[in-house]
Parts: sequence; structure tokens; C-alpha cells
Amino acid sequence: MQIPLVDLKKQYLSIKDEIDSAIQEVLDNTAFILGKKVEDFEGKFARLCNAKHCVGVNNGTSALRLALLALGIKAGDEVITTPFTFIATAEAISHIGASPVFVDIDEKTYCIDPEKIREKITKKTKAIIPVHLFGQSADMDPILEIAKKHNLKVIEDAAQAHNALYKDKKAGSMGDASCFSFYPGKNLGAYGEAGAVCTNNKEIAKELVLLRQHGELTRYYHDIIGDNCRMEAIQGAVLGVKIKYIEEWTEKRRKNAEHYNKLLKESGIALPYEADYARHVYHIYAIRLKNRDMLREFLGKNGVSAGIHYPIPVHLQKAYSFMGMKKGSFPVSEKVAGEILSLPMYPELSEEQMEYVSNSINDFIKNA
Ligand SMILES: Cc1ncc(COP(=O)(O)O)c(C=O)c1O
Repeated sequence: MQIPLVDLKKQYLSIKDEIDSAIQEVLDNTAFILGKKVEDFEGKFARLCNAKHCVGVNNGTSALRLALLALGIKAGDEVITTPFTFIATAEAISHIGASPVFVDIDEKTYCIDPEKIREKITKKTKAIIPVHLFGQSADMDPILEIAKKHNLKVIEDAAQAHNALYKDKKAGSMGDASCFSFYPGKNLGAYGEAGAVCTNNKEIAKELVLLRQHGELTRYYHDIIGDNCRMEAIQGAVLGVKIKYIEEWTEKRRKNAEHYNKLLKESGIALPYEADYARHVYHIYAIRLKNRDMLREFLGKNGVSAGIHYPIPVHLQKAYSFMGMKKGSFPVSEKVAGEILSLPMYPELSEEQMEYVSNSINDFIKNA
């Protein structure tokens, strides 16, 4: 049996007619950038996140960079975040000339450890970017409390956490701004690149609208130096259809995670941990074990694609070698990066497929 890590085809086929006609509408109107389809989607996504405003942009990396700019973070400022994330979180900080300051993760949730934030705050610290990694919210209450005390902005990196909950709050509704990616494999994925920033602050939303389109509200009148980070109409159209299914798809992911948990219970492998405060949306279902590379190879030979999110924490990436961070700087992130393995996970995954994956893992463990 061949089981991919992500299967976008199955989902497309299940909603093909709606998607095709939404894209056809864009083609018929020949209005390809922003416009009604994007506005409609922004309204729907803001409602999903319980946020007052949503500004659609061209990808999640831009969402983070524009959110930092809109919140007034500048060159020379320090922004606290986690080294165990996709590099885009740190890149966005670096691209505006600010410096990422890393704080290690909690070993169970893989999200930033709030206990370790305080010691990294300096006079230059201006913001915290917690990442809701793999679809589980970071522990936001203590983070928001620290931010309030030290007058720091909070930007949620919710790129992997559409429809996730922290207590009764939606991921993306708690920070000064929150950033989403709609990369095709995400829980809510476009058919190309797309992203969004949500905020409850009208002024920040206005600034984001300016930043994403060359600082202009009126064509060729530029109020600030902006950029071109607009969402394409085709992506707005696709997302506008797909968002209707996000709750159903979220529940399916959660059921699949539960099923994997049951099938792998006896394996002795560390399974994903769902914090009491969280509704995990399992963008990634990650297990942990010492001989992860051997298991990955074994699964590959058996037709199962497993992924590694992420093999090297950001502070040890070549791109960040200028920071001079050595191995051992963030021991939890480094340990987790060496042991983590993502199993196939998507709403359309069948029980038979999960049984095949789990049987292969259990065979490996027996013979290891
Ligand atoms: C945690 C995290 N932050 C930021 C991003 C960047 O999003 P994009 O790929 O849409 O630029 C991603 C997406 O891959 C992500 O997983």
C-alpha cells in the first residue's frame, strides 16, 4: 500500500464541482487580484477566528512580516520566539532588521515554554511570537500576562492552527495580530500561495491593508512605503469554498489522531500530547522515538511517507550561524528535532490506511 504524507487529490475530488465553478467565476470576471472573492473570504475567516478583521495576503511569511511592521516593530528591536518552528517565523523578524531571540520549548506541547520567556526580556524586546505548532495552541495566558507586564506586542504564528482552541478562545483571536498560512497542505489550504493576518484592532488592520498594496488606498497615491503582498482572487475563491468544510475536516483529523493513538498505544513510542487547555487540530501528527531515522526508512520501504518537522531547529540552521549558537543552546528543541516523526495525516485518511501505518510501526518496534 502506498500512503502519502498528505493527499490533496482526495479532498479536491470531494468538492470538485464547487471549486471548479468558483475558479471559473474568477476566470469569467477576469479580476485576478484581491476583489470580491478575497473580501468574502476575509469576512468568513475573521468569523472563524473570532477576530474583528482579516487581511488576506500572499503567504504566511508575508503575514508575519507585515504584522511585525504594522505593530511598529523596527530594525534593532528584539522579538522573542521559538527555535522549534518553520524558519519563516524567524525570517520574518530578520527581514525587518529585528533580531529573533529564541526561547526553548515545552517538551510535551513543543510550543514555547512560557516559564523561560522572562529571562530573555531586555530593553530592546518589543514582541513575542508564540507558534501554535502542529495545530496545538501555545499556552497563551502566561504569555499574554508577561507581554502585558513588559508592554510587548504578541503576534500569534497560527500558520498550522486553523480552527484550534486555547480554552474557549480561537487560535488567532488572542494576540495583537495573528498570522495564518494557507499553503496547500495546511488544514485550510489554497491552491497556490496565500496567507492572512487577523486582528481585533481597526488601526492595525488599516495599516496592513496599506502595507500589502504599496501603501495605497487610492490607485497611485502612496501614503507609506508598502509592498506587494496581495492575495490572488483564485486563492480567495478556493478558500471561500473550503472554509465551509473546516469544522468537518478538523473533526476528522481529531478522530484520525484518536485512532492512531489507539493503534499505537502499546508501541512504547511517545504519541502527541493534547494539553488540557487545547483543542489540537493535528495539522501534523508527530510521534517521537530515538531511532526515528530507521523507522522512517522502514516505513518508506513499506510505502508509507513519513516527514520530519523539523530536523534542525532554527538556531542551528546555516542561515542563522551568524548568531553563533552552539549545540546545547536549546536542549529541548534539539532533542525533539532529533526524535520527531510525522505520520500521514489528513481528513480523508481511511482507517485501513491508519491500520497499515500502525501495523508497520508496531512490526518495526517488535523487531528493533
Ligand atoms: C509555523 C509556520 N510559520 C510560518 C509559515 C509560513 O507560511 P507560508 O509558507 O505560507 O509562507 C509556515 C508555513 O509553512 C509555518 O508552518
